[in-house]
Amino acid sequence: MKTSDIRRDIPFLDEVIYLDAASTTPTPQPVVDAMCDYYHHYNSSTGRGAYKTAVKATSEVEKTRSILAEFINSRKEEIIFTKNTTEAINLVAHGFNFKKGDSLIVPNIEHHSNLVPWLNLKKKGVEINIIKSDSQGVVDPTKIDNAIDQNTKLISITHISNSIGSMQPVEEIGKIAKENDILYLVDAAQSVGHMSINIDKLNADFVAFPGHKGLLGPVGTGFLYAQKDVCNELEPVNLGGGTVSDVTEHDYKLTDGPARFEGGTLNISGLIGLGAAVDYIKRIGMDKIEKHGNKITKMMFEGINDIEDSRVYGNPEVIYDMVGFNINGVNCHDVAKILDEQNNICVRSGMHCAIPAIRQIGAYELGGTVRASIHYYNTKEEIKTLIDTLEDISQLGS
Ligand code: ALA
Repeated sequence: MKTSDIRRDIPFLDEVIYLDAASTTPTPQPVVDAMCDYYHHYNSSTGRGAYKTAVKATSEVEKTRSILAEFINSRKEEIIFTKNTTEAINLVAHGFNFKKGDSLIVPNIEHHSNLVPWLNLKKKGVEINIIKSDSQGVVDPTKIDNAIDQNTKLISITHISNSIGSMQPVEEIGKIAKENDILYLVDAAQSVGHMSINIDKLNADFVAFPGHKGLLGPVGTGFLYAQKDVCNELEPVNLGGGTVSDVTEHDYKLTDGPARFEGGTLNISGLIGLGAAVDYIKRIGMDKIEKHGNKITKMMFEGINDIEDSRVYGNPEVIYDMVGFNINGVNCHDVAKILDEQNNICVRSGMHCAIPAIRQIGAYELGGTVRASIHYYNTKEEIKTLIDTLEDISQLGS
């Protein structure tokens, strides 16, 4: 599938220049169709009814679990459905029995979702060891290695920073975690659907994924990969129907595997859409997506960097599918507003839910950055319009 094919499947892209894939991506028609098919023809609850449409709904949702497992090279029993990446990380932070005196390692380039749930554990007496990235938002694995002591229970790091786009050495850090027998969580919010992910290479016990970003799935979907042996060590926080194998008036027995975390009625149509979205991504091909992303990111980085009054963040060699920048003398929110008003260009501006990361790259006093983030549907022409509009905006600041 070519970029023009996917654009035909997303009419929204004719109305705007959408450069906010890191927040959420527009949903292609086949994904919408799969969800409509559920609503029109077998709108029933999953894991409960014995009638035909309920059985079909259950099997379609379980099909998504298999599709996701195959896509990241894991087992089906290791995929837990969540509503987003944040919920997946919280499931580990709340579910694992961290105790007073335990310590965790987390870099300072994280999205708040991979920082605040850990900071919250300080209330239990858990120590959070924050590792500073370099000025370009990359974490040195040696620093992580040096920070490990006998109390370290978990290392948690983003795969690709949501504010700078910097890819982290997650495989190297995974080896360090394994050698030291420490739990390892990777936040794949900005990488899945943008680059191939193979669980075996990460050495991670947990990987948190969104459905609605790189995978082009519907909002309200996400999932947690939890390695089979550690999955049952997590206590579910959302108890209820489906999470138990037996209940008396006085006690209950949790069921094994993903179901123990999936209490209540699932986002059935969303999960069916997510399965269709991964099929769609596979039809495009991850190699093509990566190649296109690298080309467009390079063009965007160089074009913005060439504007006299710009400041671009991060190292172009390791940033993926987004560029963070400022235009000197113009507030980042004003830049975003003008881009929208002049050419319907959608970008995110501000702190990007990553205040420590924004401090680390020196953009806090500026009120944050402008972030332009892309996917396979973006074209060179769109990036040219972005750069030309930014050139005009830069005149306002001088
Ligand atoms: N986490 C999303 C972002 O980085 C919303 O914009």
